[in-house]
Amino acid sequence: MRDISKPVRRFDASEKIAGVARFVDDHYEEGMLYGKIVRSERVRAKIKAIKIPELPEGYHVISAKDIPGKNRIKMIFDDWPFLAEDVVNYFGEPILLVVGPEREKVYEISESIEIEYEDIPAILSVEEALLNKKPPIYGENNLFADYFFEKGDVENAFSEADEVIEEEFKTGFQEHIYLEPQGMIAKYNNGRIEVFGSMQCPFYVKNALIEEFDTKPDKIRVVQTTTGGGFGGKEEYPSQIAGIAALGAYKTGKTVKLVYDRAEDVEFTTKRHPSHIRIKGAVKNGKVIGIEVEIILNAGSYAGLSSVVLQRGMFAATGAYSIPNVRVIGKAVATNIVPMGAFRGFGAPQSIFAIETFMNHVAKRLGRDPVEFKLSHRYRKGDTTATGGLLRNEVRLPEIVNRVLSMSDYYSKKKEKKEGKKLYGIGFSMFLHGCGFTGNGEEILKSIARLKKRKDNKVEILISNVDMGQGPQTTLRKVVAEVLGIPYEDVIYENPDTDRVPDSGPTVASRTAMIVGGLLYRAAKELKEKWVDGEEIVVEKQYRHPEYIKWDQEKFKGDAYPEYSWGANVIEVEVDPITYEIDVKKAYAVFDLGTPLDRKIIEGQIHGGMLQGIGYATLEVMEQKDGRFMQRTITDYIVPTALDAPLFETDLVSQPYEHGPFGAKCAGELTFVGAAPAVCAAVEDALQIDLYEIPIRPEKLLTIMEKKNESEV
Ligand code: MOS
Repeated sequence: MRDISKPVRRFDASEKIAGVARFVDDHYEEGMLYGKIVRSERVRAKIKAIKIPELPEGYHVISAKDIPGKNRIKMIFDDWPFLAEDVVNYFGEPILLVVGPEREKVYEISESIEIEYEDIPAILSVEEALLNKKPPIYGENNLFADYFFEKGDVENAFSEADEVIEEEFKTGFQEHIYLEPQGMIAKYNNGRIEVFGSMQCPFYVKNALIEEFDTKPDKIRVVQTTTGGGFGGKEEYPSQIAGIAALGAYKTGKTVKLVYDRAEDVEFTTKRHPSHIRIKGAVKNGKVIGIEVEIILNAGSYAGLSSVVLQRGMFAATGAYSIPNVRVIGKAVATNIVPMGAFRGFGAPQSIFAIETFMNHVAKRLGRDPVEFKLSHRYRKGDTTATGGLLRNEVRLPEIVNRVLSMSDYYSKKKEKKEGKKLYGIGFSMFLHGCGFTGNGEEILKSIARLKKRKDNKVEILISNVDMGQGPQTTLRKVVAEVLGIPYEDVIYENPDTDRVPDSGPTVASRTAMIVGGLLYRAAKELKEKWVDGEEIVVEKQYRHPEYIKWDQEKFKGDAYPEYSWGANVIEVEVDPITYEIDVKKAYAVFDLGTPLDRKIIEGQIHGGMLQGIGYATLEVMEQKDGRFMQRTITDYIVPTALDAPLFETDLVSQPYEHGPFGAKCAGELTFVGAAPAVCAAVEDALQIDLYEIPIRPEKLLTIMEKKNESEV
């Protein structure tokens, strides 16, 4: 048997390196039309009139009125239109689509259209939304979601406490900056709509189009084109751009290409939810015995996936810590800005930043070592989570932590600080991530994965999950080939086409390897038994949670996830004592993500995830002024480059999950969540201060240090 974890050459590598992979914008056909969206130039307004200039032959302007079905993007809520009707709720909201044969001309026309507005008082912040003095954006109180759950007796914990510590944390917007901007190509032939594009979830797009065109499933076909990164940004948003492009094709009968410019993508697509998190902890005999966490997310103007993002954030509120008495309150709040959306970690990074930083602060106050303090609260096998789910598997945090501490030489570096021109600091984080959909997601979805053995004895993987760079083209092939004992090259896995593949669910929530990989593993086992050379054989498996998983979606009680991955990070920084610029020098990480399906691909996930988390903590600033983002291009929205990357040292501790393929758990989002709190702890250590907010900006550090120095004089 081959070692499943042993790296192989990535199946998508050569076409990408050679530049022959065809991303959506690489597709061209004769007679194709280009599309450009006309966007709202107001933050919140009624549309009074639209003045369209006389159009040259072959050019068209398309509006919400042209939608034959429902002008709502099918998601959890029913509020987000493909194209605005009579009101706009954010600056940049799509109103019209201009299509035509020449791209320049299409852009010119889009700029010459005049829209007359009547402003409605805009809600520019969460605070304003909660005050509820202006006409609400959603419902009666601007709340897309308002949740609560409890475990134990929190009030009793507070009354018994030796000390109650309360702190507030803030996290900012984050933009995905995938390599390839959003884009779709749509065709309309004989009553059938076909869409090709950059996406994570072909069936989300398909289901959205079925309702938009009020048509039958067999009238819609969605095909993923090679996708240059997603990070959650291509989870729900592609449904909107696909819907708009498809409307263009439907109206003109021609192929329509709609690809965003980078600036359009930065300014007008979904972002990570900014958060405001308040934590109140009851401390008794040196332990946190009770905790109340209130999470407020800025959800933007339409609900999107915010309710579930909030749920994941709430279920992660106590991090990797077993706290007997827990109360978690959460609100997803509507404001007049682009809708916030899915982004690697899906609500958990905000919570993990807050709880990790809180635990650091409490340890410092008690005069305790943060690592030892955190370990004394760690989850163990047999513990119940904040929602009362049972941790059935070994939680190998002591091993994970010991390894990251020795790899980084944490204690000697912390004690004997490097002397130099820069201020040196070292920080630690410890965390978990729930694998697969949150709550009842997998049970509702009932994903199906199919394997088709062809007459030539090659085996096709038929699933709706995509490779956007994270590696399933390689890892899932390995799973199937390994079970069947056939060469990796004999497994075929093409970009999903909804005409050919069953709905194995979206490519999100770190579910692909564990959930879909698990289905493929079981399908391959069955295929191996049925195998007859030269015959076509099809095997299908449908997902169901293991029997022991219990979840109450109304009360948020039970196993919010079937399994968890774990990790610990150590990060070293140097802070310039004059400019307060943060230089992240080294990052150490140990993860338990079950059996790695390919060590090299996991290493890629770790480096990418952690660097994205380091950017989230330091460089990635997105600010809103009068309802508009001030950072609108990659010149002013700064993400880490190779020059900003620290040296990485990583290792794995593998506690296998019995229902994951070869024991694999989740990896993609796990690698992101721990970096920001570790950076924050390192900066706190360097400057001997407490921080409460990311991104950590030099100008803010300067203010804090000036205050600190004044009070010390
Ligand atoms: Mo994701 S953030 O579940 O695409």
